[in-house]
Amino acid sequence: MEPDDLICLCYRVSLRKLVNYARRERPSRASQMSQCLDAGTGCGWCIPFLKRIQADPDGVAPAMSASDYARDRAKYHVRLRDGETKHGY
Ligand code: FES
Repeated sequence: MEPDDLICLCYRVSLRKLVNYARRERPSRASQMSQCLDAGTGCGWCIPFLKRIQADPDGVAPAMSASDYARDRAKYHVRLRDGETKHGY
């Protein structure tokens, strides 16, 4: 993914904003990533990615295209409707 691609699609928060937030604020808990424009407080799809950014803001970006990421989120939403548990912090 590219820096301006959206990680939290619910709240339109980009990878760049999240990485900069994590570098600047050094959150001690992954749930604190939600203080960056409410990231992760919607459907929960992005939470595993927020956890990775919080743990290592200088780490490798998700190795998928933004369109694949959005497609996988759509599949996650179908699974939620079918009863799968929402991702959580
Ligand atoms: S994509 Fe982040 S909460 Fe839905």
